[in-house]
Amino acid sequence: MDHLVVEGGVRLDGTVEARGAKNAVLPVLAASLLTDRPLVVPNAPRLADVDTMAGILRALGSRAERREDGAVEVCSDTIQSEAPWELVRKMRASFGVLGPLLARTGRAEVSLPGGCVFGVRPVDVHLKGFRALGARVEIEGGNVVAQAPPGGLIGGEVYLGTSFGSSVGATMNVMLAATLARGVTTIQCAACEPEVTDLADCLVAMGAKIRGQGSPTIEIEGVDELGGATHAVIPDRIEAGTFLIAGAITGGRVRVANCRPLHLGSLLDCFWRAGVPVERGRDWVEVRPPEGGLRPTDVTTQAYPGFPTDLQAQWMALMTLARGVSLVTERIYPDRYMHLAELLRLGARIRRQGTTAVVEGTPRLSGANLTASDLRASAALVLAGLVADAKTEVHRVYHIDRGYERIEERLQSLGARIRRVSDGSQ
Ligand code: UD1
Repeated sequence: MDHLVVEGGVRLDGTVEARGAKNAVLPVLAASLLTDRPLVVPNAPRLADVDTMAGILRALGSRAERREDGAVEVCSDTIQSEAPWELVRKMRASFGVLGPLLARTGRAEVSLPGGCVFGVRPVDVHLKGFRALGARVEIEGGNVVAQAPPGGLIGGEVYLGTSFGSSVGATMNVMLAATLARGVTTIQCAACEPEVTDLADCLVAMGAKIRGQGSPTIEIEGVDELGGATHAVIPDRIEAGTFLIAGAITGGRVRVANCRPLHLGSLLDCFWRAGVPVERGRDWVEVRPPEGGLRPTDVTTQAYPGFPTDLQAQWMALMTLARGVSLVTERIYPDRYMHLAELLRLGARIRRQGTTAVVEGTPRLSGANLTASDLRASAALVLAGLVADAKTEVHRVYHIDRGYERIEERLQSLGARIRRVSDGSQ
């Protein structure tokens, strides 16, 4: 198992490009199950999660391959309707094949995803959505078995809110299923995340009829069949945000090119409040060294366009060095605080009060051996390592590889002293 060794103390300086968004490419690849024509994603990032999704599609009978030009091409001309547990358990997003399978074949059997380190993560709202389209949905032997009525799914009305906001995954899953249903489907309390809009745009390019994506009400008019498409996914706003926080935490100057500043509005507002100067252009954002240190800045995670839960850990890492006390409140996943204990090992001063972390800034962190617990928590530990005295080791790097393409090489290009060490070599 690889680990990362970071030697802190370098102010990052330079430009890094955001890659295609992980959370956009996974549902887009699942959308290929809706058609027997090829779907091509020219900018599919090279991530472990993308490989896992390609593996699931292959297990379902699709041909999915990375072409020489870097694009991922999927052709699902013949498919079966059962997704195997060994693959589904690796990645929760694979549950997103259920909607397209059900719509295309009339039946789907997909393993119920397990919990994850930051909570139970139910799928009840997804299932409510499929039932609203006329499907019979049962749990059998740890699998969700969904059966469309004779003649196929029927458009319906469904409310997809949860106590923690609307569900991104359920909005996508139901939207995917509704594209081939008979009649009109209305999703209320739909997630407004840019990745939902991107998926809708891809489906429209495939011939679907969708209105209202990006707003809380989405209307889908079912069509008889969908065709192929070539769809470049949006840049990864979470990856872009992580590199910007890397710049800010080191007091450096980092530009993220090929991103959408509008998708980063809540983060840019936080930088402004924290005293980190930000410049932005049409498709780039740059952070500059803060004058007079970082101001403590509270954040509360919310659904888009609020502050993303996927940047909460990274922001907390930044606030460990602010000149005062910041409150970091998690409203999407109340238990998403696995990074807290590891940050304490670097000398950070943080205590948890319910769903809020009270972060008392300290002038310095000191390097330590850390264990990553999930994707974004691991990124936060790497960021903290970039400023900690001496050497920080971050173990279980496979979490980072799920969502960041060669993170150490890209941080190196900004001047960071970071290297990957494989098992057996030091
Ligand atoms: C997606 C993102 C993830 C991000 C999250 C929230 C992907 C692959 N992952 O995850 O990176 O952190 O959105 O922005 O795109 N819930 C229910 N019942 C359900 C479904 C969800 O109660 O059936 C709850 C969840 O437990 C959570 C909240 O709703 O508290 C939001 O979850 P959801 O938006 O569904 O997250 P994902 O789509 O799984």
